[in-house]
Amino acid sequence: RIDAPEYGRPIGFQAVTGNTVDSVVVPNGYDWSVTMSWGDPVEQGAPDFDFDNQSVEAQQGQFGYNCDFVAVLPLDRNLNRALLCVNHEYTNENLMFHGWTDAESATEEQLRIAMAAHGFSVVEIERVGDTGEWRPTKRRRNNRRLHTWSEFKLVGPAAGSDLLKTSDDPSGTTVLGTLNNCAGGVTPWGTILSGEENFHQYFGATDDITDATTRERFGRYGIRTSPGTRRGWERVEDRFDVASEPNEPNRYGWVVEIDPYDRTSTPRKLTALGRFKHEGATVTIARDGRVVAYMGDDERFDYIYKFVSKKKYKPGNNKRHRDHNKTLLEDGDLYVARFTGNSPEFPDSPPDDGLFDGTGEWLPLIEDGESKVDGMSVEEVLVFTRLAADKVGPTKMDRPEDIEPHPITGTVYVALTNNNRRTPAEVDEANPRPDNRFGHVISIDEDNGDAAATSFTWSIVILCGDPEDPETYYDGFDKSQVSMISCPDNVAFDPAGRLWLATDGMPGSAGVHDGMFVMPIEGDDKGHLRRFSSVPAGAECCGPTITPDGRTALMAIQHPGELSGATTENRMSTFPYGNQPRPSVVTVWRKTPGNDRPFIGD
Ligand code: FEO
Ligand code: CA
Ligand code: CA
Ligand code: CA
Repeated sequence: RIDAPEYGRPIGFQAVTGNTVDSVVVPNGYDWSVTMSWGDPVEQGAPDFDFDNQSVEAQQGQFGYNCDFVAVLPLDRNLNRALLCVNHEYTNENLMFHGWTDAESATEEQLRIAMAAHGFSVVEIERVGDTGEWRPTKRRRNNRRLHTWSEFKLVGPAAGSDLLKTSDDPSGTTVLGTLNNCAGGVTPWGTILSGEENFHQYFGATDDITDATTRERFGRYGIRTSPGTRRGWERVEDRFDVASEPNEPNRYGWVVEIDPYDRTSTPRKLTALGRFKHEGATVTIARDGRVVAYMGDDERFDYIYKFVSKKKYKPGNNKRHRDHNKTLLEDGDLYVARFTGNSPEFPDSPPDDGLFDGTGEWLPLIEDGESKVDGMSVEEVLVFTRLAADKVGPTKMDRPEDIEPHPITGTVYVALTNNNRRTPAEVDEANPRPDNRFGHVISIDEDNGDAAATSFTWSIVILCGDPEDPETYYDGFDKSQVSMISCPDNVAFDPAGRLWLATDGMPGSAGVHDGMFVMPIEGDDKGHLRRFSSVPAGAECCGPTITPDGRTALMAIQHPGELSGATTENRMSTFPYGNQPRPSVVTVWRKTPGNDRPFIGD
């Protein structure tokens, strides 16, 4: 562990109280502003947003819907110009269009606008004066929108596989679009990794799927096997009809690598990292220079995975090294995690050591280019990774969302958001609560501090929920002083090494809006978790990211107004402009000019 003077320092701000205000709430002494909202122009020549006159062409150049992952990549040495990189996970058509009833009665134009509102945005931003506030630049030279008709290249061992061929793409290497991009990560070589998560929902079926193998594969991923639709996209394009294009769903569910510094580059889908409902992927460098990616499969009872590259990272950002580094995620080993508790008396009685902790193994699925799964080829393991993992006995987790290695200690933090289907007979030390409505956070320490290790130790850091509930745990801190958190989803770190968590599900589990929380993980304030922000009605808090200078926090206000019975007319949220709700990226900064400690959190 590193003994840096700033590291583990306590939090200075006064916690925001859990609330139901239809706005962004930040601590006293901080301010916030909207940086980008759904519909704001991104590409050069894109029109200003007009809710009542939307078009496919406009949306293809405008900021997409439901911003999720947020990253800020520098464009200059002083961090005065940067690229804001944002996922657009999905759409709420009932809040996008007047008079929406369902996908079946929607116009084709509406369906295509929704398709165009998915994907990814790169937006050039600049600092406002000498503050922590950022806004988009007028110049849009670096800007880019990727959407459901943008070209992506499949790379890695499964690229070109028969399992990935369709009538539009007999090569099995070129996909149009990226779907349901949820969380993500920034690589050391300055690219973005973006997880394709709940891709199953975009596929309809015009006929029964009868082939037994296809039915099993579709079933494990939640893809329709009988006639029906959810989003109606198969009405617009045959490729979204699994009865006519059964391989098209195999071309989603990947981690996508995007180079935001080159707007002409073709983003790639990384087959070596496996196919599942990827929450995201975050990267670190192992002792010997190989690159390691940690990944969660966000579904109840699904797994945590790790990829270790074959080739090694070349430091520095000269073009030759960067081009090399951009190939690192195309070949390597793939593992899935098994957690073993060290308190065998649990669950019959509480752990004798007072902790939910133990050891774990990374079980190989692919090693040295070969399948380690009986009866499955390399291509089958990578395309049907869930089915491969099922055969090797990993631990079924409570919805693994974001997973991120700490930049100083290397400890890996895992957000397990909740699992209301776990029964008392199904608990284990790593998922110790039945009907886990509040979620928990696990830390993983790789053996010998080496990210490429195949074994680890682990411990539950936070058992979320009401601090007054004796079942909850806040890293050993005095619970009378912490803010309540539930349903942790996204993980981030600030330059002081503090752990940040954003939540998705506090309205249902705690009766207050979602938000951002921060907690020191070392020092006297270790476990002193405090709420930093609260988001509008119906919204989930995504991102979040703290800029490398520590002066700005950004969060994605995803799906404001996503409430039962919400329409464009009844306006159950009016965030941010007092009329129809618009998903937005928000910048938060500290208002104390000249302060020698302008850091977020201090
Ligand atoms: Fe899109 Fe797992 O949250
Ligand atoms: Ca224990
Ligand atoms: Ca998420
Ligand atoms: Ca979520």
